[in-house]
Amino acid sequence: MSDLNHIDNKPRPEASENLKKLIIRAQRVLDGNYQSGHTVPSAGLYPHQVLWDSCFVAIGRSHYDIERAKLEVISLLNAQWSDGMIPHIIFSNERRYFWDRQIWRSWVSPASVKGLATSGISQPPMLAEAIVRIGRQLPLPKRLAWYKSVFPRLSAYHLWLYKERDPRSEGLVVQLHPWETGLDTSPPCISELQASSWPSWLNIFDIPLIDKLGDSLRVDNKFVNKGERASNSEALALYILLHRIRHRKYDSLTILKNPSFAIQDISYNSILIRANNLLDEIAVTIRANLPKELQRHVGKTSRALDSLWDNDDSAFYSREYTSNKLIKELSIGSLMPLYAGTISHERAAALVKMLEDKDNFGVQFPLPSVPTSSHWFSRDRYWQGPTWVNTNWLIIDGLKRYGFHAQARVLTLATLDLVNKSGFYEYFDPKSGTAHGANNFSWTAALTIDLAYSLKSK
Ligand code: GLC
Repeated sequence: MSDLNHIDNKPRPEASENLKKLIIRAQRVLDGNYQSGHTVPSAGLYPHQVLWDSCFVAIGRSHYDIERAKLEVISLLNAQWSDGMIPHIIFSNERRYFWDRQIWRSWVSPASVKGLATSGISQPPMLAEAIVRIGRQLPLPKRLAWYKSVFPRLSAYHLWLYKERDPRSEGLVVQLHPWETGLDTSPPCISELQASSWPSWLNIFDIPLIDKLGDSLRVDNKFVNKGERASNSEALALYILLHRIRHRKYDSLTILKNPSFAIQDISYNSILIRANNLLDEIAVTIRANLPKELQRHVGKTSRALDSLWDNDDSAFYSREYTSNKLIKELSIGSLMPLYAGTISHERAAALVKMLEDKDNFGVQFPLPSVPTSSHWFSRDRYWQGPTWVNTNWLIIDGLKRYGFHAQARVLTLATLDLVNKSGFYEYFDPKSGTAHGANNFSWTAALTIDLAYSLKSK
């Protein structure tokens, strides 16, 4: 165990020196990924602005560069579609990314922003959290001005989520593509994709020669080992689904009449509940009212989230939208109701037990994105096992709000230790701590800064 693990035991000067060094290294990563007005997730593999990545970046930056933290958020808001959606990718307009923009063709939707190429779907609503984290660093007059400047667009975004993504008015919003969950290849997403929109010919990728051919067409494999990313068949299924959504001009209500893929993701909806509470905090601070229509929906979500609890398994799951069936595959998303903060203390305690259990999420370098006992578990493949810093951060935040301070501290130290030892990578082997995915990854750096500050301010 490194020195970082002793930080909380007491103010040992070398421990806080190590923290300081870690913060400086993290700032260097973020500043290296900064590109006039926003920060890219990782210069080679992800060269465009990405919605929830930028929210995490803003949270990290709020500690040391408030102006750039604000710019990060403003750049996202400037890409908001006229219907309120905030797209999950805002493309660089460099010529070399012509095909990235063409694959999405956001201009097929009349709601898209003219002259700005984006994706046509969204991502977990972390924006309210980013805005509030920035606000809390500002003196009151500046905080009020900041909140007032963003409130109308933020509430329009939340309103879009309910109007377009909750047509049955249940309180839970639907994701139309695994990319919307941010946990792209996690077992609930892929198993649902396999069940609903997986053409049988995709299985030809089981033939090694065809699989090799697929490799040669992929760009991501040039940056990261093939075994650490989505498989060729998964990747192609994701693109086929994108094509189907684009064909319907990204119009949610049209797509939902006969969806190829539609889930009420447990993680996304947990984040939405927290976001609604933070939106409310903003409204109270500036003495504004939430739009009436939004007020009507918001109250339902926490009750609806409880309906995703499975009594037999004592676990939360995502749900398939058309059949209303729970997708009984455990993943890190099953722990995310801790971040929502509205489930009962008893259920929160059950999640903490699962989090510490050696057959579930209790590993050497926590928290794995899939429990080790799952048949999906892989030590290095993307969202099917590795440990990610953003999901740790969300769960740490939830643990604190439920009063599980000891567990939150253990996870904070374990996360910082892992990054300190292995570097600012995208994800990590939960058994050995070996780094995987993209290096110099922005949200790993940003959230390291935030976690380090949470220890410093003790
Ligand atoms: C991966 C992640 C997604 C993230 C993106 C950019 O696709 O699954 O959540 O936003 O990379 O970092």
